Amino acid sequence: MKSAEIRKKFLEFFQERGHKIMPSSSLVPENDPSVLFTTAGMQQFKRYYSFPDEISSARIATCQKCLRTGDIYEVGDESHLTFFEMLGNFSFGWTRKNADLTQTNAGKSYFKKEAIEFGWQFLTEELKIDKARISTTYFAGEKEIPADEESAKILEGIAGLDEIKPTGFSETFWSLGTEGSPGGPTVEFYVDGIEVWNLVFNQFVLREGKYQPSEFQGVDTGMGLERLVAVIESKSDIYETDIFLPIISEIEKISDKKYGENKREFRIIADHLRSAVALISDGVVPANKDRGYVLRRLIRRAIVKGRQIGINKNFTADFFEDKNVKTELENEETKFRKTLENGLKIIETQKEFSGKVLFDLYQTYGIPLEIVVEEAKNFGREIGSGEIQESEKLLRQHQELSRTASAGMFKGGLADDKIETTRLHTAAHLLLAALRIVLGADVSQKGSNITEERLRFDFNHQEKMLPEQITEVEKIVNEKISENLPVEMEEMSIVEAKSSGATGVFDDRYGDKVKVYMIGDIENPFSREICGGPHVARTGELGHFKITKEESSSSGIRRIKAILE
Ligand code: ALA
Repeated sequence: MKSAEIRKKFLEFFQERGHKIMPSSSLVPENDPSVLFTTAGMQQFKRYYSFPDEISSARIATCQKCLRTGDIYEVGDESHLTFFEMLGNFSFGWTRKNADLTQTNAGKSYFKKEAIEFGWQFLTEELKIDKARISTTYFAGEKEIPADEESAKILEGIAGLDEIKPTGFSETFWSLGTEGSPGGPTVEFYVDGIEVWNLVFNQFVLREGKYQPSEFQGVDTGMGLERLVAVIESKSDIYETDIFLPIISEIEKISDKKYGENKREFRIIADHLRSAVALISDGVVPANKDRGYVLRRLIRRAIVKGRQIGINKNFTADFFEDKNVKTELENEETKFRKTLENGLKIIETQKEFSGKVLFDLYQTYGIPLEIVVEEAKNFGREIGSGEIQESEKLLRQHQELSRTASAGMFKGGLADDKIETTRLHTAAHLLLAALRIVLGADVSQKGSNITEERLRFDFNHQEKMLPEQITEVEKIVNEKISENLPVEMEEMSIVEAKSSGATGVFDDRYGDKVKVYMIGDIENPFSREICGGPHVARTGELGHFKITKEESSSSGIRRIKAILE
């Protein structure tokens, strides 16, 4: 069974059991600056564990692209990856009381029993994995949180499941760990001792550092596709599965070297380029800070590993078809190769690596820290943790400076504060609210850029908008303009803003209070968005709204250009 078939089987299995199949969200999380990247399937649904009425289906399944950079130094072994796909099924709004209902969304939700049985069924009946290869763990209780005896009982009731092991908080309790996140005990499925599936039973919510019982219970599961494929294809090395074989053989061709003799370098190149492409496709570009910096490091490390297996010309773009991806990789590689050899020479001859030297190697030669550390090691020199910390501090200071500079330049995505841009800014709020009515409530803003002539607005949506949808959006916005609705602002805490249902970027760095702009009746506004402003006082000031263009921005992201006439 190949990866594509396994992915399909998973989604079909859950679809047959009443789940709505939803697309993967972007690797760049929407409205959630608490994380740089999407690291789990539940992230796009986080809110619905507390507000289950807002979701269109109580059962959902996805195949979510994820990026985790925490283990980046482990990449190069048989099983670690930065980019991976997570198969997941989710349930929202379960309570013991409504477990008997069947007609409503609430009645269709499920909890531990169904989730565990679905998991067991999928592995043993659908994928036909021998029961004897499967073992499970459950939460044994720790600190103030009691053991999950309920799951233990359900597992004991499964015929053919012989190994059930209680484990601690770090193994079988899961939460994103940020304020307001759902969390709870987990059950994990292992095949041949390899962890493949994590079933999280959300029955708590993290408030002020404490897990408090939540009003609703929910299910969040995650199974790494690449690992599952390795298990099914009986490969101990993830890079020998059908997912990676094409890229591995391409590296063999380009380098004229064999995978078997250069496994570590091949794996890092394959993993890092796969992640880089996924990031570029979701709109990230190489840069010196934040997401762009992670992308830059991935590409540059792949290039250095390529050099170590004898590739001395641009190669990173050779694997891919997409024009935008090719251009970004090509540009980044050309830029890096200009200084790479000189930088490596310095590493080779440098006697002392102070924090400042490490920082300069990036600033001047573009060589990220981990590459310096690795390369220096090749020449027999260890770099101390004090020096590493010092250089990270210098880099952070540098990044803060450039962040402050760019924040000053483009506050709120506005190029200036002329009245035209202010009007377009308010129009952007109406546009988002209208898009959510026409295309669905899961639409959110992915970026915007406003000049005095036009607004540009990016949002998540899989398909090209139909002409009638564009007309409908224009119509709604113009209706709201003609109603001459008031625009009011209220300052509130992030928690209040979130629970009021406000859209917009929940940026914790803004401090405790955020501004929420409401357009329309303050009790039940047409639009409620977190935003720094400025805005006009009434929508009547806007004039006539017109969409001039609707196009693709990147995978899963559409871009609208609009004007006020
Ligand atoms: N959200 C859970 C995880 O990432 C399933 O492991």
